[in-house]
Amino acid sequence: MPSLPTTNYKYDYQLVPDDGEHVEKRRANTKKRLLFHFVAVMAVLYAAFSGIRYGARAGWLKGCAGKMRYSTKTQLPSHYTLPSGDKIPSVALGVWQAGKGEVGQAVKVALDAGYRHIDGAWIYRNEEEVGQALKESSVPREEIWLTSKLWNTFHAPEDVEPALDESLAKLGTDYLDLYIIHWPVAFKKGSNNELDEQLTADPYPTWQALEALVDKGKVKNIGVSNFNIPRLANLTANNLKYRPAVNQVELNFWNPQPDLLKWAKEHNLLLEAYSPLGSNKQVKETLERPEIQQIAKDLGITPAQVIISWHVQRGTVVLPKSVTPSRIQENFKVTALPDDAFAKLEAAATAHPPQRVVNPSKNWGLPFDVFEDYPY
Ligand SMILES: NC(=O)c1ccc[n+]([C@@H]2O[C@H](COP(=O)([O-])OP(=O)(O)OC[C@H]3O[C@@H](n4cnc5c(N)ncnc54)[C@H](OP(=O)(O)O)[C@@H]3O)[C@@H](O)[C@H]2O)c1
Ligand SMILES: *[C@@H]1O[C@H](CO)[C@@H](O)[C@H](O)[C@H]1NC(C)=O
Repeated sequence: MPSLPTTNYKYDYQLVPDDGEHVEKRRANTKKRLLFHFVAVMAVLYAAFSGIRYGARAGWLKGCAGKMRYSTKTQLPSHYTLPSGDKIPSVALGVWQAGKGEVGQAVKVALDAGYRHIDGAWIYRNEEEVGQALKESSVPREEIWLTSKLWNTFHAPEDVEPALDESLAKLGTDYLDLYIIHWPVAFKKGSNNELDEQLTADPYPTWQALEALVDKGKVKNIGVSNFNIPRLANLTANNLKYRPAVNQVELNFWNPQPDLLKWAKEHNLLLEAYSPLGSNKQVKETLERPEIQQIAKDLGITPAQVIISWHVQRGTVVLPKSVTPSRIQENFKVTALPDDAFAKLEAAATAHPPQRVVNPSKNWGLPFDVFEDYPY
């Protein structure tokens, strides 16, 4: 099995041709923007000064110095902006392993708690119940970010749209906000995990079928999941009409993937953190880590909130799964960690050898490790 290629990773974001017209427009816009910024800055300064004067008089600022044990960060982002311009909420409810009879309730509790992002997949076999819950909720469809994933047996270009249609029908909607290739692994149609080597080695034909769904208006954004850097580099070396908006990967205390995160940031690719708490196998060990317990205690928040906040502060979307109402509510409350607490947690997470929770390579009988080997 050959080792990872050392290509220089080409990742080209230029979606709009950079012709003269755009340059002219941009110049005009820049002038407008400068004026707007000037006015905005003056307004903020005015508001801040009056606020401080008023606050000082009202006695708000008393005791502040004593409480501020850490340097404070501003708020965490509630959304990230994708190349399409769409804003994806930074915290989602994950619904893998959310069973029949519990997932619908979980979705309802989440919407009531303020979640506006559900991370699902065809293979989770619960899209119907998720759809039913969405239908029964009073939150309008357009306020909810819905993600689903293309399963491995549907990578043949002609199978992509029917697979999406099935998810749409089950979810009871006519579009998805995000559709992603679940794994960089293609199985032959109708087979029991029989590898389609060609579509696994080169996912571009599958990607083109996804691009066609964007053009049809059936999906707003497309992305990938479980792609390592060489695979991202290979896919994006094609002349893509739409580049991947996200790569959804395992990110948690045990497998924080700092190199992939760095690469993604350099290439303006948003990562989504799956199994953010360590999944059901490792969640207990994660929440019991002394570093996490300490930070939780210092800040007066829960260990799960420390971890989920850490993910957003790293600049990723985070997808915690729970079917327990109190936990669903708990997990939505993210808060910026003080810089030193963030640094401590980052150091602790990257100090030990990385350990994956999710790796189906062996279960699927793959002749390679999906995360380590490419091409194989
Ligand atoms: N793209 C992919 O290949 C892929 C792979 C894996 C996961 N995902 C996505 O990522 C989501 C999350 O991943 P995951 O389900 O593996 O792991 P996770 O969210 O890290 O962990 C879920 C486990 O943690 C428990 N839990 C949740 N909040 C808790 C809290 N506040 N305190 C204590 N325990 C808590 C849950 O229990 P209860 O539910 O019983 O409350 C469940 O057992 C999935 O649902 C899915 O959407 C994607
Ligand atoms: C991606 O990798 C496959 C398999 O090695 C190769 O056939 C294909 O040409 C590569 N694509 C690009 C654009 O380099």
